[in-house]
Amino acid sequence: MALHRRLVVGVVAVGSLLCVYMLCVSLDGPLSWSMVPFRHLQGFIRGTNESSSRDSEEPLDRETSRDQWTRPPPAAQHKPAENNAPDVSKSSSRTDEADGTRTKGPPMLQLVQADGPTEPPFIGDTYMSEDIPPLTQCPDNIRSRVTKTAFGGRFLEHIAVLQWAGHVTPEQHQRLSRYPGAHGWGELDYKTLVETLSVLNSTSSWQLLDDWPDRSNKSECIRCAAVGNGGVLKGSKKGKEIDAHHYVFRTNGAIIEGFEQDVGSRTTHYTFSTNTMMNSMRAYAGAGFRGPPQSKETRYVFLPDHDRDYLMMKAAATHRLVERGREKDKDPSRYFGEDVSAEKLKMYHPDFLRYLRNRFLRSGILKTRYKNMYRPSTGAVMLLAALHACDQVSAYGFMTPDYRNYSDHYYDSTYHPVGFFANHDMRMEMALWQQLHQAGLIRLYMHA
Ligand SMILES: *[C@@H]1O[C@H](CO)[C@@H](O)[C@H](O)[C@H]1NC(C)=O
Ligand SMILES: *[C@@H]1O[C@H](CO)[C@@H](O)[C@H](O)[C@H]1NC(C)=O
Ligand SMILES: *[C@@H]1O[C@H](CO)[C@@H](O)[C@H](O)[C@H]1NC(C)=O
Repeated sequence: MALHRRLVVGVVAVGSLLCVYMLCVSLDGPLSWSMVPFRHLQGFIRGTNESSSRDSEEPLDRETSRDQWTRPPPAAQHKPAENNAPDVSKSSSRTDEADGTRTKGPPMLQLVQADGPTEPPFIGDTYMSEDIPPLTQCPDNIRSRVTKTAFGGRFLEHIAVLQWAGHVTPEQHQRLSRYPGAHGWGELDYKTLVETLSVLNSTSSWQLLDDWPDRSNKSECIRCAAVGNGGVLKGSKKGKEIDAHHYVFRTNGAIIEGFEQDVGSRTTHYTFSTNTMMNSMRAYAGAGFRGPPQSKETRYVFLPDHDRDYLMMKAAATHRLVERGREKDKDPSRYFGEDVSAEKLKMYHPDFLRYLRNRFLRSGILKTRYKNMYRPSTGAVMLLAALHACDQVSAYGFMTPDYRNYSDHYYDSTYHPVGFFANHDMRMEMALWQQLHQAGLIRLYMHA
């Protein structure tokens, strides 16, 4: 209760400071790269539904009470997203975009900028955009459908989802070092950055679905299943349906053995941060989690929120032990298998993570003292990455409004209520999944 009171006071105090600040300061001055300014300040739809969403998350920062997040009233600058917002990333000259053949050469890069005059600098609504031709000619893909929905104004079709060697320049380092944690390179020195990201320098480094040409043909639509670890999957018998997708995304404590009937058995993409993977291995060992799934088709997609992730990634790609930090001398093949190589490793771009936070999950937590630790949950990043990379997305095991009826995870042997964390906004995520489902952009599995 005391925490609750302090939180409310904190929210009010930070809120008023922010208002004063926004009145006085013109923010995020112009950058010197080629930018295409938005004509309007982009708006943001807030989750209005107080009930929220579910997926798996690291057992850190667990809050004792699920109801202590009192959301402050929406601030004035949160206007509804506009359907007719200009697609900035389309406005640069691109000659080879439509033919879908340019998969070999590295993509062309540019920055798209959308900072409005009232945004606090930590928001940084300016993102790396990339020219990666679509993998299919699927007529009914998410990217074309999204423009007709309320999400059209927020969705950047060409945002760089992954970071790779081509992104590392002193200018980019300077730009991104303004943002801490997962949202930038704030705690990373340039040398570490160069050393680690230089191993990500091939087609598979910038394409989430790098093996699509080996899998199918261009006339097919890419169907992806994003599988969270929510208790709603228990007894669902959805395993066969999940495995029938082209790609199956999983995250954190994704226990498969013994649960195949309900959750399937394939994993093409495993999303994690080094921190959440280590925590999951500790917390869910009793339930049978021994480490990330391993198979020939499995890719490992790092969500970097620390230099730990860069160091682990480099060690994995170069078949060495981790050279320093929390995981010093740990052997990456223990987690990713003996045959892991740079081709199986990917890393989300901090711009993509900040974009998801700013435009899809701009939580009221950003107005509290937990501002810097807040990020979209690992499962949310996984699902929203699928939304940007696949033609069609089904989501399983994500939090639904009746989450109280289910245990936290599908593998819990006894009922555990869903955990809420100070660093995520699971209720807002739950509302977002409902909105995306209602907009026809994802198919969300809900218990009948
Ligand atoms: C990445 O590969 C390209 C072309 O193969 C090369 O020119 C470039 O130097 C490489 N970048 C790094 C950081 O290794
Ligand atoms: C390509 O995919 C389409 C759609 O599934 C299918 O009808 C067609 O037979 C496939 N073509 C080849 C050459 O595999
Ligand atoms: C969830 O629980 C509520 C109350 O306990 C009950 O009314 C409802 O039918 C349950 N829903 C499902 C899908 O089991």
